[in-house]
Amino acid sequence: MDASRFAKDFLWGVSTSCYQIEGAAAEDGRSPSIWDRFARTPGKVVNGETGDIACDHYHRYPEDVALMAELGVDAYRFSTAWPRILPEGTGAVNEAGLAFYDRLVDSLLERSIEPWICLHHWDLPAVLEDRGGWRNRDVAGWFADYTHAVASRLGDRVKHFFPFNEPNVLMWLGHATGEHAPGHADREAALAALHHINLAFGRSAQAIRAAAPDARTGQIISLQPCEPGRDDPAHRQAAETIDLFWNLAMVDPILLGRYPEPLADMLAPWVKPGDLETIAQPINLFGLNHYCRMFCYPDPESPFGARIGETPSGPTTDMGWLIDGTGLRDQLLRLVERYGKQVFYVTENGGAFPDGAGADGRVDDRDRIAYFEDYLSNLLEARDRGVDIRGYFVWSFMDNYEWSLGYAKRFGIVHVDYATQKRTPKASFDWLQDLIARSRAA
Ligand code: FCB
Repeated sequence: MDASRFAKDFLWGVSTSCYQIEGAAAEDGRSPSIWDRFARTPGKVVNGETGDIACDHYHRYPEDVALMAELGVDAYRFSTAWPRILPEGTGAVNEAGLAFYDRLVDSLLERSIEPWICLHHWDLPAVLEDRGGWRNRDVAGWFADYTHAVASRLGDRVKHFFPFNEPNVLMWLGHATGEHAPGHADREAALAALHHINLAFGRSAQAIRAAAPDARTGQIISLQPCEPGRDDPAHRQAAETIDLFWNLAMVDPILLGRYPEPLADMLAPWVKPGDLETIAQPINLFGLNHYCRMFCYPDPESPFGARIGETPSGPTTDMGWLIDGTGLRDQLLRLVERYGKQVFYVTENGGAFPDGAGADGRVDDRDRIAYFEDYLSNLLEARDRGVDIRGYFVWSFMDNYEWSLGYAKRFGIVHVDYATQKRTPKASFDWLQDLIARSRAA
């Protein structure tokens, strides 16, 4: 790919999240999260797999950071674990838990890699779910206190803090369909969680600004164009419904200061005076996690009458997700059209492929390289059409725990042998290393 098309200061990064890679689930005072609990609930995760050990990043981070340095990335986006830092969910800070992130941040900075921290990637302390979790309005205050604990400790060195990763996925899969923790499949739960998560975003952004005034913040969200699974009115309606909940519900209130109709009516029981002002915090950047166009189907059993379903045609990844980089281009263009100029970063993009190691131990993942080239070309096309896009983070740095699908789906550019914890860079790692180096030299 033509590296000279990227600006010299285009930011290259890799992404992960704590529950998916850290392991050390019961170490140094960490309490269980809703994912530890969900994974142990029969039938929720393939093979009942858990994040107990995962990639053992908690112990092996020096080796992982060294590999990132070899790759040549500018930034590493990871998440901090609320149950490590505040094992009771609220109240006393667990020094040992926070100290891990201190060590990680310092080791990144020693290698000139910027830490980009997400404060919440879906691992709510289980003790807080017992108090109503995201369905309880108090969660906004709990989250602001947790934000303060992290940002006041690390804000002298960390210049990028984000309240959430994909709050829309947490709301939809966690509270409307029940496919993810905490496993609610309920209309009221989804609507309450939707508003309280937004409120928590606002309170957390305020806490970040107070504790780390020179840090940048913003929303990091999964946005995917919604297409009807078939071309008929019922499917078109389903696509509109999913679009409302997935793409608009957690961006409109931040950037437009209001909920889109008909959501505003549905949420009326939960929205109190002043809430929309709290949510509409000024942001410095917009993080887009993008994978594919999503296909939508009517579903009378779902609380909102619609579901995300199978890809009707075209090439797909091991997740069954369509491979088509024009979705990224169109999503970026739509964001500018709806919200005006913003500073964009792609904070996650990548594909799962059934790649096994060859006889020499190498993974020759050409399909992943082709995927990246397709999406990056479309990113450049959006840039050429006026989108201010300044960086790109690969999902994921290494193979990891893919939520309810366990360890079967591999997204990494570094292969992980879970039996030995051996890391082996794949061909896509070499490809990215070369692209980064050429984009800087060009
Ligand atoms: C995103 C999540 C991330 C990972 C990728 C494949 O929705 O943020 O944790 O599961 O999908």
